[in-house]
Amino acid sequence: MTREFTLTGPGGASLPARLRGPADRHGRPLHDLRISVMDRCNFRCPYCMPKAEFHDNYRFLRSDERLSFPEIVRLARQFVALGVVKLRLTGGEPLLRANLAELVGDLTTLPGVEDVALTTNGVLLARHAEELAANGLKRVTISLDSLDPAVFARMSGGLGSVEAVLEGIEAARLAGLLPIKVNAVVQAGINDQTVLDLVEHFRGTGVIVRFIEYMDVGNRNAWDPAAVVASAALRDAIHARWPLSAVPQNYPGEVAERYRFDDGAGEVGFISSVSQPFCGDCSRARLSSNGTLYTCLFATEGLDLRAALRGGADDDTLRAIIAERWRLRTDRYSEEREASRRGTLPKVEMYHIGG
Ligand code: GTP
Ligand code: 5AD
Ligand code: SF4
Ligand code: SF4
Repeated sequence: MTREFTLTGPGGASLPARLRGPADRHGRPLHDLRISVMDRCNFRCPYCMPKAEFHDNYRFLRSDERLSFPEIVRLARQFVALGVVKLRLTGGEPLLRANLAELVGDLTTLPGVEDVALTTNGVLLARHAEELAANGLKRVTISLDSLDPAVFARMSGGLGSVEAVLEGIEAARLAGLLPIKVNAVVQAGINDQTVLDLVEHFRGTGVIVRFIEYMDVGNRNAWDPAAVVASAALRDAIHARWPLSAVPQNYPGEVAERYRFDDGAGEVGFISSVSQPFCGDCSRARLSSNGTLYTCLFATEGLDLRAALRGGADDDTLRAIIAERWRLRTDRYSEEREASRRGTLPKVEMYHIGG
């Protein structure tokens, strides 16, 4: 549950975080910040970074175009003053960013931050889990779409391996990065036949598997609604084999619907942004690795905070422009999907904001 805390200094002395920050046009507070630290990835999932486009000569950001760690920490501090209590590091693949544990150490010690998590494809996790935990990282979420090596290869663009990801999960467990969550995007006719295997493998291990409905993120994945497997169908299939009961949300605005196994073997979750959009209590902001603020996963434009930072803006100014952007926010993409899809403006890409 969200704990209230107080902060002193500019931004609203001694007010609980949820009362201190701005609300958007739909009354939604700013609660979570997802920080992409790296636009590169060591996978080429066709639904995110198709190989044909993200080839050896693709122009990723130069390192000086990415926010530095001090810049990220400075921005994170402003977001926390505006009500953010939860930080998640994403990519691309965040573990490709050198010395990531140093950044984790700085973010976990920011006063007011209650939760710092990491979303990774898991391949480099065995190498880094211990150091991340030692620097204060609480937990990790690992993307793993299938345990079947051929299906996995098809969905990762032929890179990485199931064994490497499972080793990463084991290393996270040994390092105490708990609870471990596994995210699996489900695509009809590609990996839906392997969903029950994934559930069976992790049942009773404490790892929480969550199935994500395939979404029309970005502009490259040629999304087809027919490729979406509705969570209700998956839930029914799992329930028929291992009876499930619904569990209340861990916190307001949680994206996953939770279910526990009636036999006590843990829980599974469903993220149903297509069949059951959850924009109503969306409190997430996203910062891309080049310092652009997006207020929706499907945003068509962002706010260039790097320009403000590097142009010499002081902390009060940074907070004011972030708060102003949040106050003007009207995003409800998933709730308006059909109408929104008729728009022609390009959307931000998944590998820029990490989901
Ligand atoms: P917890 O803190 O463990 O509850 O994690 P989380 O569910 O907030 O974060 P995670 O990165 O695990 O989210 C899982 C996936 O859900 C993301 O990769 C996205 O695909 C999807 N998702 C998360 N937030 C949003 C959102 O605001 N809108 C939509 N449409 N999808 C989202
Ligand atoms: N639809 C749903 N989930 C997606 N992800 C990436 N692209 C999509 C998409 N089009 C997932 C990744 C990872 C998380 C960061 O987002 O598989 O689990
Ligand atoms: Fe990399 Fe994740 Fe995109 Fe796959 S979905 S290419 S692992 S950033
Ligand atoms: Fe939030 Fe946009 Fe996702 Fe809706 S579609 S939940 S507004 S990020």
